[in-house]
Amino acid sequence: MPDIESLLKEKRTFKPAPEFSRQANWNKKTTAEYRKLGEKSPERFWAKMAKENVSWFSPWKKVLDWKPPFAKWFVGAKTNVSYNCLDRHLEGDNAWRRNKAAIVWEGEPGDTRVITYAELHKEVCRFANVLKAKGIKKGDRVCLYMPMIPELAIAMLACTRIGAPHSIVFGGFSAEALRDRLNDAEAKLVVTADGGFRKGAAFGLKATVDAAVEAAPHVDAVIVVERTKQPVEIRPGRDFWWHEEMAKASTDCKPAKLDAEHPLFILYTSGTTGKPKGILHTTGGYLTHVTTTFKAIFDIKDEDVYWCTADIGWITGHSYVVYGPLANGATTVMYEGTPTHPGPDRWWSLIEKWGVSIFYTAPTAIRTFIRLGDEHPKAHDLSSLRLLGTVGEPINPEAWIWYHNVIGGKRCPIVDTWWQTETGGIMISSIPGAVETKPGSATLPFPGVHADILDEGGKSVKGEGGGFLVLRHPWPGMLRGIWGDPKRFEETYWGKYENTYFAGDGAHRDKKGYFWIMGRIDDVMNVSGHRIGTMEVESALVSSPDVAEAAVVGRPDEITGTAIVAFVTPRSSVHPDEVLVGRLKQHVSKEIGAIARPAEIRFTNALPKTRSGKIMRRLLRDIASGREVAGDTSTLEDFSVLAKLRESDED
Ligand code: PRX
Repeated sequence: MPDIESLLKEKRTFKPAPEFSRQANWNKKTTAEYRKLGEKSPERFWAKMAKENVSWFSPWKKVLDWKPPFAKWFVGAKTNVSYNCLDRHLEGDNAWRRNKAAIVWEGEPGDTRVITYAELHKEVCRFANVLKAKGIKKGDRVCLYMPMIPELAIAMLACTRIGAPHSIVFGGFSAEALRDRLNDAEAKLVVTADGGFRKGAAFGLKATVDAAVEAAPHVDAVIVVERTKQPVEIRPGRDFWWHEEMAKASTDCKPAKLDAEHPLFILYTSGTTGKPKGILHTTGGYLTHVTTTFKAIFDIKDEDVYWCTADIGWITGHSYVVYGPLANGATTVMYEGTPTHPGPDRWWSLIEKWGVSIFYTAPTAIRTFIRLGDEHPKAHDLSSLRLLGTVGEPINPEAWIWYHNVIGGKRCPIVDTWWQTETGGIMISSIPGAVETKPGSATLPFPGVHADILDEGGKSVKGEGGGFLVLRHPWPGMLRGIWGDPKRFEETYWGKYENTYFAGDGAHRDKKGYFWIMGRIDDVMNVSGHRIGTMEVESALVSSPDVAEAAVVGRPDEITGTAIVAFVTPRSSVHPDEVLVGRLKQHVSKEIGAIARPAEIRFTNALPKTRSGKIMRRLLRDIASGREVAGDTSTLEDFSVLAKLRESDED
């Protein structure tokens, strides 16, 4: 991640091409009008969007009920997410979409499935009936722990159809992490698969579920999709095969008329403590936010083939693989496997094969492909592409330019979209037919989004300058709370400034009002676009019998953005060596998942601390990234500790 000086030296600008603007869903004029309206009254802007883009069973009595920090949107209205994603595309003027591809899926081994809207509707109704038959009622939590297969989208939509909030746990998380999430949400049912395919091999999921459910007393049923045909244990009375249950179920299931504020899903994300936060999203506001942003920012047309490469286990997959695209009646591509299997051109071959026109991915992937060489994308016809997007972390201008030139053939606008699990949908982004872009900048807040930059004292930074990124007014897709922990919700997001949402990111605004996101300013790392709390990795490390104490920091990494570095004080009886390094990395993978595995482990006899016992992370960050230790170190408890760490650094 280049620092702010080098970013701000970036002077290249890219105006929307007139051909693009002419056909855009939102051109300069509409965007300017919406901006004006959103500035004056976010409520009026979002109400207009809610009317235009979402179908409601009954109208709201009030657009926004704001009792800080608790917001309710579209109060009293009734709707259903699966109705918006499916049924409305099968009726009236839209009925022609019955036979349009909703999901284009490709498995890693090369098997494919194309599911039309009419078929998807049937499958979703069927699975909603399976859930009901297993005793799932409105409000019950259902956990989805699955590979990237169509059944995951089917299960999500089935949950929304009956009003059972889902909690999706990314398939890379360990049994321990899954168990904690099951228990926190008190999930009653788990949907999983025997496994999935990655890097040319089958990985298992069911055994992980078995281990987790062992210590998750609320779970009384597990439904298993057959994907890899690996042998799995099916416990009679608790475990059921997806295909057997589906064969018995009817395709008739009316969508529940749900309150706009009915819980839609919980998604766990890392924070500054060891315990992940269950971010709660609700129905009407979230749907309005993702449907509107998807239409405006991705400029979706019925002819488009849209592909977002995120795993559905993360918020990007929820909002922009499934809900945003399907609510717009779009064709969304899902790919099961690794980007580079069987060869480094797999993604590019997928774009060519399916004629992808809109492509949304993460800077870490772009940087990986830059390193792999231009010959791989150049070997494929990428001329179907017309729009590109990025998300998850700041994109360095070099990667942006490569993406623009090599993937976009210099003709595709790039939308750099800033948002978070908590915001539900995109908050800051260019509108491709209306906004001039600058490589490395997410450009301007979406209409109706009141983003600002504040200094430590809470004053808005006027003109050019940097500070903390905040949102001054509620927005429809905003999190409604942390599951079971309202106090943490208030403290984490609303405790720093009054009635203002604190995002946890640092940002800079330039003379033209463009936002340049600098990344996390708290103890959360962004590794390959995924959030991992330093405390989570620390608690995993200290749960090992080998470890007395541990401190974890991030250091800049060319590919993953941030790499995890752990400073570990072993127990006195333990010999610090390479074997221990391997064992500890493995231990973290087991406790959390491979995504949290430290890139580097350094041993030290003691950790540098302030007099009050706080670990001096800034200092460790400097050491980890090989920088000179800067700043005031007079509060060090033990000066020799610092010297020792530096010595080991020089080894
Ligand atoms: O630091 C910001 C970074 O990702 C964080 C949110 O992570 P998560 O909740 O996992 O959601 C990621 C996908 C929406 C933010 O606080 N981030 C996200 N998008 C960008 C970004 N940083 C810079 N530029 C972006 N476009």
